[in-house]
Amino acid sequence: MSIAVRYYSRSGNTRALAEAIAKAAGVSAVSVDSAEAKLQEPADVLFIGGALYAYGLDKHLKQYLKTLKKGDAKRAVVFSTSWVSKHSLDLIKKGLTAAGIPVEEETFYVKSKPNADQLKQAEAFAKRYIG
Ligand SMILES: Cc1cc2nc3c(=O)[nH]c(=O)nc-3n(C[C@H](O)[C@H](O)[C@H](O)COP(=O)(O)O)c2cc1C
Repeated sequence: MSIAVRYYSRSGNTRALAEAIAKAAGVSAVSVDSAEAKLQEPADVLFIGGALYAYGLDKHLKQYLKTLKKGDAKRAVVFSTSWVSKHSLDLIKKGLTAAGIPVEEETFYVKSKPNADQLKQAEAFAKRYIG
């Protein structure tokens, strides 16, 4: 099974979730602004996360979502760590849907910085999608 984990994180909160999910999947979490961010093969599951900054997604994540296309992933699972609002989840889902990638309704959300328990929960959440 091919699993990919992509994220954008300014201060590390979303990266921490991405790394917990990646650990569960036995892959690396890759920032969307890194040279390795492009999906090299169709993913069975693409975990993708970000946060809100002044009511919107960071431009790096917005740009990355625009590069995705139908067939890049069989399905996507979204996670976020925004502070006040879960709107980030909807914005990421919207970008994936616009790309033609099916999105799981269920998401993983932590308000701001995840603690050790929440990181364990993120791992358990990810395992439910990994064969
Ligand atoms: C400049 C700035 C603007 C932010 N704007 C929002 C916002 O509009 N809504 C919200 O829910 N959280 C907002 N936050 C909180 C971040 O989404 C939250 O801290 C998140 O966990 C940051 O994730 P990161 O560490 O992965 O970058 C903002 C944070 C910063 C630094």
